[in-house]
Amino acid sequence: MPEDRGQWSGKLGFILAATGSAIGLGNLWKFPYITYENNGGAFVLVYIAAILVVGIPIMMAEVLLGRKTQLSPVGAFQNLGKNKAGGQAWTAVGFLGVLAGFTILSYYSVVAGWTIHYAWLALTGRLVELSSDPQALQTYFGSEFLASGSSQVFYHVLFMGLTTAAVFFGVKRGIERVARILMPFLFLILVVLVIYSSTTEGFGEALTFLFRPDFGSLTTASVLEALGHAFFTLSLGMGAMLTYGSYMGRDISIPRAAVQISALDTLIALMACVIMFSIINSADIDVSKSSTILFTTIPTVFAKLPAASLFNAMFYILIGFAALTSTISLLEVVSSYAIDNLGWARHRATLTMGGAITIFGTLNALSLGASSRLSSINLIGRESTAGLFGTMDYLASNWYLPVGGLLIALFAGWIMNPRETRQELETGHGPLASFGIWHFLIRFVSPLAVGAIIVSVILGKEYN
Ligand code: PHE
Repeated sequence: MPEDRGQWSGKLGFILAATGSAIGLGNLWKFPYITYENNGGAFVLVYIAAILVVGIPIMMAEVLLGRKTQLSPVGAFQNLGKNKAGGQAWTAVGFLGVLAGFTILSYYSVVAGWTIHYAWLALTGRLVELSSDPQALQTYFGSEFLASGSSQVFYHVLFMGLTTAAVFFGVKRGIERVARILMPFLFLILVVLVIYSSTTEGFGEALTFLFRPDFGSLTTASVLEALGHAFFTLSLGMGAMLTYGSYMGRDISIPRAAVQISALDTLIALMACVIMFSIINSADIDVSKSSTILFTTIPTVFAKLPAASLFNAMFYILIGFAALTSTISLLEVVSSYAIDNLGWARHRATLTMGGAITIFGTLNALSLGASSRLSSINLIGRESTAGLFGTMDYLASNWYLPVGGLLIALFAGWIMNPRETRQELETGHGPLASFGIWHFLIRFVSPLAVGAIIVSVILGKEYN
């Protein structure tokens, strides 16, 4: 095995890094916002069901493909596709993953960069000042911050720099170390914010909204949206979990790890909802159902509560940390392709790939300011009109991930021999009584569910 591949130090290292990949803007930004839009309760239940019947099985499939081959997506499919139906054509799934990593990172890092700017605004007290007038905050975000090409590029480059630095130092000394430091911090900040929100008067209402299902308000579109989000939030469909699985020892149980990672990811998404809905409910303002809530509304609400600057800053630092452990996994998929398949040294691979994505992302960053319809930026998971930025998001979330996920499920369920998959899932676990359930889900349920998302995208009905 080339030295530049690396390995986790053990089970905790893998769990923290993979959970770090899963928890990101998807949990802290998108999930609260779509839950709000889809009226809570019933949507949350459907989402949890999607995690259980589609998310966990596909995560197990990805990790097993990675660990079995000890290779990143392109190499893994090249290796496993040999002598099987479809043969080398399966390698395309690996390339699709590399393409998705490149594409997602090029806009994800722009948004991630915003959190640094907002944490800074909070710490200097400027955010509280701006928040005294909700309109001022909106104007600041749309007409000043997004419209400033130099700010957009600056924070994007800064965030890509942090990401590249972590991946540069390798699996154990870079990726795992960052996750070991940031994940406990992230959890701590979340707990503090949940406690804080429990003292606000909107807390009870937030819990009711989240956990009292009203199935009458559930539409087919909500179900599809929940399903699509399960993918994005668990980092599935593009080989991130496959790549992380390839650095995993044979003494670790894949099924158990997949359940733990998914449970943590869901827990944190729900905690983010509790925090945001509590503070939103506590304030006497009209909240529009918009995806920019995080930057235009939340500070106004915090401003009405004690220690506003501090909690504002904690909030954005939390989101930035979560985003960093996700951007790292995106860059790792792209870099590990160069390491495994082109034989590059890790340093060369990360600097080249990180550099290329930084340059491409700069175009996304600039396209934000150039776009005339800023108010319609609708990040992650839906078509938007915000220039190149929106196109990248649309392609990745609506096409690359579902198509990648579908192919991964078909490969693991139909192309691989059940003996092979069973053996890998039992390695580090022992006899797996639920293998039959997994095999059924991965063969039938996951492909049908993901197929439904793809068909709805084709028919143009997509996520809402
Ligand atoms: N799971 C991450 C989030 O929720 C996003 C992501 C998708 C990361 C795909 C890696 C791969 O924000």
